[in-house]
Formats: sequence, C-alpha cells, structure tokens
Amino acid sequence: MRNTHPVRKVLIASANPLFGKGLQQIYRQRFEAVEFLLTSSMEETLTELERWQPDLVIVDYDDKTIHREEFLSHFITGQRPMQVMLVSLRESGAVVVYDRKTLTPAQADEWLSDFQTYPPSKRSHTMKGNARHLFIAGGLVIVATALVYLALLGVNLLPAQASTQAQAIDRLFNAHFFMIALLFSLITVFIGYSLFAFRSKPGTEDQPGANIKGNNTLEILWTLIPLATVLVFSFFGARNLAETRLADPQAMEVKVVARQWDWVFEYPSYGIKSNELYLPVNRQVLLKLTSLDVIHSFWVPEFRVKQDALPGENLVKELRITPIKEGRYTVMCAELCGGAHANMNRPVVVVSKQEFDAWVSSKVNAATADPVERGKRWAELSGCLSCHSVDGSKLVGPTWKGAYGHEVELADGSKVLADEAYLYASIVDPASQMVKGYPNSMPANYADQLSDEQIRDIIEYIKSLK
Ligand code: CUA
Repeated sequence: MRNTHPVRKVLIASANPLFGKGLQQIYRQRFEAVEFLLTSSMEETLTELERWQPDLVIVDYDDKTIHREEFLSHFITGQRPMQVMLVSLRESGAVVVYDRKTLTPAQADEWLSDFQTYPPSKRSHTMKGNARHLFIAGGLVIVATALVYLALLGVNLLPAQASTQAQAIDRLFNAHFFMIALLFSLITVFIGYSLFAFRSKPGTEDQPGANIKGNNTLEILWTLIPLATVLVFSFFGARNLAETRLADPQAMEVKVVARQWDWVFEYPSYGIKSNELYLPVNRQVLLKLTSLDVIHSFWVPEFRVKQDALPGENLVKELRITPIKEGRYTVMCAELCGGAHANMNRPVVVVSKQEFDAWVSSKVNAATADPVERGKRWAELSGCLSCHSVDGSKLVGPTWKGAYGHEVELADGSKVLADEAYLYASIVDPASQMVKGYPNSMPANYADQLSDEQIRDIIEYIKSLK
C-alpha cells in the first residue's frame, strides 16, 4: 500500500552514506512522492535547509559532524512548518528516534509513515486562552479553599479555648488551617482542571504536546511566594510565642512536681499541696515545673501551652497560664516517661475567686487542726504582719504581742478591754475604735477578704501571743 500525498522533500543529514541510503530505502517502500537530498556536513545541511526548504529533516543522531544543538537552533528559528527527527541506529539494529520517545522498531516504522499526516498543531495556546484558563482555575481555587477551610474548622480539632494563651495560639492555628486549605486547593484544582481542560480531543490523540522548556517568571514566583509566606509565618509565630509568655506581676505561683507517674501541685503562698490543680479564673498562674526522675511534659489541651518538666534542681521550667473559663480539665503528660505514662492524668479545676479561696481554706484546715497555726498562716497571707509585729516592736499598727486581754487607750481617750469582740471589730471595721497614737491606715476590706472562720483563727493566733 502506497501513500499518495503531494511530493514531500526529505533532507537527510549524515556523514555516513549508509544511514541516508537505508532511510531512503525504507521511505521508498512506502511513499512514492518523496524527494531526497543527502548532506554530509553541518555547513552543507544549513545551506540546503535555506535553499531547498525541506518538509522533513532527518538528522543522524550518532554523527558527531552534525552538531545537533546548532542544527536545531537554526531549525526552530525558521518560519516554515517543517518536521525534524533525530534518528539513531543502534548496534542492535533498533531504530531509536530521539523525539523524547524511545520506540521499538515496529513503532518507529509506524511513526515514520505517520509524519505526513500530522495536521499543523492546534495546540498553540494564545495569551488570551491562557488568561481564561487561569481565571477559571483561580476562581475554582478560591471556592475550593473556602470549602476546605470551612470543613477543617468544622472538624473541631481544637478543644475548648480556656486560657488567654490559647487565644493567641488558635489564631495562628487557624491561619495554618487556611494555608493548608489554600495549598491543597492550589494543587488539586490545577491538576484536576488540567486533566479536564487539556485532555486530548477526538482526532488529536497522536498530536505531540507543546514542548515547554523552562519558565523563569514562574520559577522566581514559586520560590519567592513560599519564602515570603514562611517568613511571615515565622514572624507571627515569634510574636505569638512572646504573647503567650507575657508576665503578669500579680501571677500566683504554683510549683509543679512531676514524677513517675503523678503530679503534685504546691502553693507556696498558702503552704498547701494538692494532687488537683485548682486555679482561680482570670488570674495568671506561674507554674514552676520540676521532675523527680525523668522528663515529663505538662499539658492541658484546653490551655494549649505545653512545657517539659526536667529532673535537676537548676532546671526549673516556667509556664504561664491565664485561665479564662471555669470548668474541669485534665493535665496529661506529653512526654513518654515509662510504663504508666498514659495514666499520668490529674484534674485541673478552674473556679471563681470565691470558690478558690474556699478551696484554699479547706485545704489549710485539713492540713492543720490547730486554729493558732492556721491563724498565723492567714495573718501571713493577708499581709497583717507587715504592719503588726508579734514581738512587741512598734510598726505602723500596734503590736499583737500581749494585745489580748489588756486595756487599750483609744484615740478619744476612752479605754476598752481588748477581748475577742474588740479584736473582731478592729479587724472588720478598723476605724471604729482607733488605738491612741496610731494612724487610721488599715484597709477596711478584711471582712470581704477573709471568711469569718479565718478571722476567728487570726484572733486565736493573737491570743497565743502573750
Ligand atoms: Cu510523665 Cu509521660
């Protein structure tokens, strides 16, 4: 079967005469209307390319005298539609066509006979067409990003937001969710859109695709945009980290001691220990973490922040948390620390200030049954002892030593017996019976700060100071 196309001009460039002759023979078996021209040097090939204007050029890939790159650069600058093949005849006799394809001899044969039937490529993409594709794909990316982002937020990965620090962290977390949604959409939408929009249409299955080599603008963009994104995120990350560490001078200190496999919480200002971490709401707590054995890690998911507890006296680690939501949470250990690591859970209870104070006094009451001992602690905690001495020396206020049971002279000159009723009145309403020679400088709010029981304890303590 012979093909009956119009005359085609085929230029064969090879220093090896057998290469050209062999190809001519293959062609003649198939096509009648083919004219051949054989060239054997680079110069000759380029001259004939200009003069003769062939439809197809076949270059001997194995021939070093025909400089392929130089040849191709001339070839691709020409205006005329033309095809070129780089053909190599391997020792095995197989024909290898360097068209970014390695073909079996049978395929090469088929391919050779096909060359005349290619219509001019319809796959030239105009700028207008590109802009349209970009516009559609860009719109789809925006829609997909919004949907994926909403879906991610809907999963509710994050537990309740129970601390000030959690707010800062969640802001960044959500920004990451957004970036994840955007990147995911960018990749999947472009792949999906390309699969659909640039699929081969019927009748063009054999057409070669556009040969795209390098795109500096694109490479610069896809280097700079991710670089800028990472830098911006690290900036916000550093700022957020600083925000979670903001120190409040009024913070309550709690010592956290971790060991295999439990937590102990010590409140140095109240002299109590607990296996539950009680915290008053809306007040920063400064946790000072240590470990008695191996590395543990203090983590309450609702507070978000996390800190390792390290063994060693000089390795006290600090963590600041400002609970903003009353409730019961759980502290867990976030560092594999041995067999019962998974059981290293303890309750964390965030309560109102009143409930916290009640809890503290119940713990103190449980710790000591002696009202004098308790009263001493309340006096220390409430700041009484910065104005009242217990050894007889004169400070801002009268000394407590020997105060009970004696007569005191008041500012108005009258005298009263300092009994329990007098001491009680002086604590809750200090201005009512001012002792002569002392300023009226005692805060009048001790009735709010101290419970009745605590005031009774303090009176017992004063009574003990004979
Ligand atoms: Cu302690 Cu894990």
